[in-house]
Amino acid sequence: MAKKKKILRGLRVNSKRGMKNLSRKVSKIYREQRFKVRLKARDTLKLSEEHVFPTGTKKGDLFEKAHKFTTAKEIIAAGVYPYFRAIESGQDTEVVYHGKTLIMIGSNNYLGLTSEPRVKEASIEAIRKYGTGCSGSRFLNGTLDLHVKLEKAIAEFVGKEEALLYSTGFTTNVGVVSTLPQKDDIIYCDRINHASIIDGTRLSIAKTVKYKHNDMEDLERLISKDNPKKGKLIVTDGVFSMEGELCKLPDIVRIAQKYGAKVMVDDAHSVGIFGKTGAGVAEHFGLVDKVDLLMGTFSKSFASMGGYIAGDSDVIGYLKHTSRAQIFQASMPPANVAAALKALEIMRTEPERKEHLWKIVAFMLKSIRELGFKTGHTESAIIPIFIGDDFRCFKMGKRLEEEGVFVNPVVSPAVAQGQALIRTSFTATHTMKEMEFVLDKFKKVGKELGVI
Ligand SMILES: Cc1ncc(COP(=O)(O)O)c(C=O)c1O
Repeated sequence: MAKKKKILRGLRVNSKRGMKNLSRKVSKIYREQRFKVRLKARDTLKLSEEHVFPTGTKKGDLFEKAHKFTTAKEIIAAGVYPYFRAIESGQDTEVVYHGKTLIMIGSNNYLGLTSEPRVKEASIEAIRKYGTGCSGSRFLNGTLDLHVKLEKAIAEFVGKEEALLYSTGFTTNVGVVSTLPQKDDIIYCDRINHASIIDGTRLSIAKTVKYKHNDMEDLERLISKDNPKKGKLIVTDGVFSMEGELCKLPDIVRIAQKYGAKVMVDDAHSVGIFGKTGAGVAEHFGLVDKVDLLMGTFSKSFASMGGYIAGDSDVIGYLKHTSRAQIFQASMPPANVAAALKALEIMRTEPERKEHLWKIVAFMLKSIRELGFKTGHTESAIIPIFIGDDFRCFKMGKRLEEEGVFVNPVVSPAVAQGQALIRTSFTATHTMKEMEFVLDKFKKVGKELGVI
């Protein structure tokens, strides 16, 4: 849009009507360009017209779109489908797939705790004592002393008055973002925030304003235009999950203070590894007191499943009694809570895990760049390798799998069209030998496919 305005300004059209006509023409050019990108995707993947340009419901058949959706089938037929691979072992630095051992660099198991015996044992012990599930929401019959213990431990860990558990990280974001901002409030949301935040904004009756990714000028421009009396929430990923970039928290806090907004940070990919004690990006930037809501998940560094939101007591109390994703969802199973509690204990007492992870990440980033791959602006344990074309990305994923490396090919809509990438992420228990093996395969496959 800004680009379009710039073009129009450059044309120096005087009359209003002339401007309108030109504006229409420029829009048309943009539409055509987008169309060409889609055509290219269709051609490279050899897809049929209907599923690249899915049609709406015709003749009242709700399932028509599903019958016409053949993209996945065609990618499978092309032999490069990378999703729903059934792993036959635990999630560790090595996994077994189709009977073959692969080095795993596609997991969010940042601290390597999914296979840690103490975490497993804690989980098993919890099942022995409490059984396998709670059969109800926290609100009614589903609260265990274990949940309360984890909430207290998390609040203390991240430096907030109170914390509240949700059953997944996804529903934590949906629950918080759809509940706190109400009718006359405004949510400012980074354009590439995680889908769970976006879905929270869609459920909220507040107005949502999306700002350009990590563009603080754009955020300030947008927020400065709005009514100062409205309640405002700026919500951002701490680490952006596909690109690995860090949010610009000092600027976000400055803007929030200037315009009276509250700040919420999603620490899914930063808790456990960022900050002196591993409390996340707010601790990393020394801004724990200035960030109102800290959100995290237990599915990554914590080697479990579930989510938390931490903040002031009143706000947590309000969410506890009004957030639908809290009240109408069964609580975290005991095994998950116990695993998260044990993982937290290990995280706090064994900082060497985090330190080793950063060594591995620094080594891999330098080496991958030296091989000639494009890795963007990552500053986290996620290293994206930009490929561009969807098919080439799928092909690269497949070839690496054949060579013994598990990676995640990521295409639109998880990233922008034409910016397909191989998402790699690292684990504290990876060895240098495993990394040398991976680099060797990257070099071989990268050259073979002309990526480097
Ligand atoms: C940034 C971010 N937030 C939230 C979530 C949702 O967390 P979970 O998968 O634990 O439900 C994810 C998961 O991938 C994520 O990457």
